Amino acid sequence: MSWLPRPAEGCAHVAPSLLSADFTRLADDIADLTAAGADLLHLDVMDGHFVPNITFGPFICEAIRRASDRSPCSTGHLPLDAHLMISRPDLYLEAFAGSGVDALTIHLESDCDKGPTLERIGQLGLKRGLSLNPGTSLEGVFPFLAELDLVLVMSVQPGFGGQTFDPGAIAKIGELDRFRRESGHDYLISVDGGINEITGSECRTAGADILVSGSWLVGADDRAARTDLLRG
Ligand code: DX5
Ligand code: ZN
Repeated sequence: MSWLPRPAEGCAHVAPSLLSADFTRLADDIADLTAAGADLLHLDVMDGHFVPNITFGPFICEAIRRASDRSPCSTGHLPLDAHLMISRPDLYLEAFAGSGVDALTIHLESDCDKGPTLERIGQLGLKRGLSLNPGTSLEGVFPFLAELDLVLVMSVQPGFGGQTFDPGAIAKIGELDRFRRESGHDYLISVDGGINEITGSECRTAGADILVSGSWLVGADDRAARTDLLRG
């Protein structure tokens, strides 16, 4: 398994969202994003039920893993975080683990028992992520923070790329960062939706460690320059 340390103070890891990639030439896009300096890849899995859109499942995640194995970086392959926007993530953990991803991020709003589901993700040898929607209060994630490797703060309503950043994410990132300092927990703070040079900088300042970007980064011609801008 491949994973990431905390970034240097004031910097962030950059996670291109493959939702904005060209799926007719996915391997080329992954090689290009690796060369551009991406730190991990963000895989948006949608079931048409938890969100009103359908993307891909373990089969394509496995293809992404093989493509990323062929585009080596310093950690072997870029770490893969599967963002599971699905109603019953607990039913698919083994399938996603078998696809070769490194982290599974489930939603607090999904219809499963979060504690046992996160525990099972850890037993499968994967990093444990928990995400919350813009309208969900942070209180719901507090009981799980001790066992999390990643908290994914949604700054748009999940389902589609290209939406506008919700500034309410900034306060959540700040609170997660404050609590991390006080508690000594070592989860990474990631933010997803509407990330560009300006919103990315605001999130870094608030304490975010990972910036997920789709349309602004993956949809651009100058990916290397934009990756540098997001990293800080
Ligand atoms: C939205 C996804 C995001 C999306 C971000 O449901 O979770 O990862 O790809 O895309 P942008 O950066 O275009 O908002
Ligand atoms: Zn996402």
